[in-house]
Parts: sequence; structure tokens; C-alpha cells
Amino acid sequence: MSKPLVLVKDLTYRYVDGTEVHIGGIPLEIHPGERVVLLGPNGSGKTSLIKMLLGLMKPSSGTLEVFGNKPSKDFSAIQKRLGVVLQNVEEQLIGPRVVDDIAFTPRNYGYDIKQIEREVDTLMKELTIEPLANRLVHYLSGGEKKKVAIAGALIAKPDLLILDEPFAGLDPQSQEELVGLLTEISVKKDIALLVTTHDLELVPALADTVYILSEGKMLMKGTPAEVFQRPDVLDSARLHVPAIYSLYIELQQRGYPIEIPARVDQAAIEKLLNLLTQKPIINYKSINGRVPKLNV
Ligand SMILES: Nc1ncnc2c1ncn2[C@@H]1O[C@H](COP(=O)(O)OP(=O)(O)O)[C@@H](O)[C@H]1O
Ligand SMILES: [Mg+2]
Repeated sequence: MSKPLVLVKDLTYRYVDGTEVHIGGIPLEIHPGERVVLLGPNGSGKTSLIKMLLGLMKPSSGTLEVFGNKPSKDFSAIQKRLGVVLQNVEEQLIGPRVVDDIAFTPRNYGYDIKQIEREVDTLMKELTIEPLANRLVHYLSGGEKKKVAIAGALIAKPDLLILDEPFAGLDPQSQEELVGLLTEISVKKDIALLVTTHDLELVPALADTVYILSEGKMLMKGTPAEVFQRPDVLDSARLHVPAIYSLYIELQQRGYPIEIPARVDQAAIEKLLNLLTQKPIINYKSINGRVPKLNV
């Protein structure tokens, strides 16, 4: 396997008021192009971990490597390969206009202005924010601000994009749209993602790998389907499986040959209804231990 872009093992950070944050349990690894979702309830340490990854907070003990470097020591070595969208996006938008904001970092580096303009245009197209080009960032909606911040992070062509609670405060349609955009960006540009959230609904469409953090411990690592099959772990982390996924798990446990879909869209609902209406609800596994083939 490739060398991980990020490695986190048994970290501790102590805030000035004495509050200690631990990130123990299963080590966190992020590989090139991997889409990782870090699930954890409020106060579990997600933002603290991100601040350590960014080199803004230095852990007092443990292993923390980003691109093979220690973030708090080799900040400049990681800075250009890392993009970030903070939980409070206001903190990172500089403006005044959308185009100025997106171009800020490369302009600061003194790169060719025409080249920067071309790249800003391309990114605005990809993120469907071209109509906002000359708007003042200050007056944009929450979802629009998130997209501008993503464009500003992507302009440096990072290998890893970190987003802290990007779905918080967005309406369901904007949340879905953002999941679609992030997935597309990650796949098309081969960028690894680290996304924190406590919203399980969006996980199947977004994540290759899910980590569950609770009370200082990484409790589980798995695919979205594996994680949904552990309501006990999710419960202990104060996270709840959305009802529709509970239904999928229940059907699987009763022997129905059905996978959890990445997105519960109309096609998935049709498939589910087809399965439920074609066959009676019995435990298929109990028929000579064989699961019959269904045309679904
Ligand atoms: N500036 C701070 N000073 C003291 N304690 C803090 C500070 N920021 C966060 N904490 C504490 O650290 C723990 C983890 O917080 P945080 O990393 O923000 O969690 P999350 O992002 O998962 O909600 C919580 O107990 C929180 O109260
Ligand atoms: Mg947080």
C-alpha cells in the first residue's frame, strides 16, 4: 500500500485551561485519493485534530505525520499540499470580491496573473459559482461561502483537502450538492479528503473510509456499510443511523440480498420496493442455508 499522506496515533493536546484532548484507539491513516469521513459527536476532538494537522496546535505526545513531516515543525513543507475549509468559514474568507478571494494565495506567491485568472475561472466553473465572481464574499449565503472557500483551497492544487463540518448549517439540497461536488473533485483531481461531520446521512455517498471518534478514542474504522452494521458503536458515540439505513440493515439481517446504496435516490427506492413486493418476508438464510437469487 502507498505511504499514507496522514498518520495519527495516540495524540494528546493540552489547552491552556488544562483541558486535555486525546485521539487514541485505532490509528488514522489517509492515503492518496482516499475519501475519509471522521464521525464524532460535538466535543469529541475533531476540530482539535484538524488544528494539529494544520500545524496550528502542537501535540504534547503521540505520532502526527502529514506528508511525512511534523506539521508544527515543518509547516512550510506541508502548507502548499494541504487545502482546508474551516468550520467557521468566515475566518478564512478575505475577499472583498469572490474572484479576489480565490486568487489570494497564488497572488501572494507572485504567480503569473493571467495564469491565475484562468485557473480561477476554471475553478468557478467546476464549483458552479461563476455568477458570483464579482459579488462581495461577505454577503454570500452559507453554501456559497463554503464553495468559495473550497475554490480558494483548491487553487493551490493540494493533495489533501480537509473540511471541518462542511454540512453544518446548510439546507438538505445544498448538503447533497456539496457531497456531489466533493466526490467529483476528489475523483477527477485525485485529491484525498478528510471531512468531519456527525451527520450519517451523507456518509455513504461521500466516504471510502469512515472513522468513529468518541471520548478521545477512535472506536472503529470501516467502509460506510461496515459502520452502519455497528449500531452499538454508533450509539456509544452518540451517533444515530438514519431510519432508511436501519431498514437496509434489518433486511440484510433477515437474509435479503441487498446492499446499502451510496444514495437513497428514486432508483434505490424502486429497487427496494421491487425486492419487498416480489418476495415474502422470510429468513432466506434459513432455506437450506442458501440465499436464493433475486432479480433486483
Ligand atoms: N480553546 C479551547 N480551550 C479549552 N478547551 C477547548 C478549546 N477548544 C476546544 N476545547 C475542548 O476540547 C474538546 C474537543 O473539542 P473540539 O476539538 O472542538 O471537538 P469537536 O470539533 O469534535 O466538536 C472539548 O472538550 C472542548 O471543550
Ligand atoms: Mg468542531
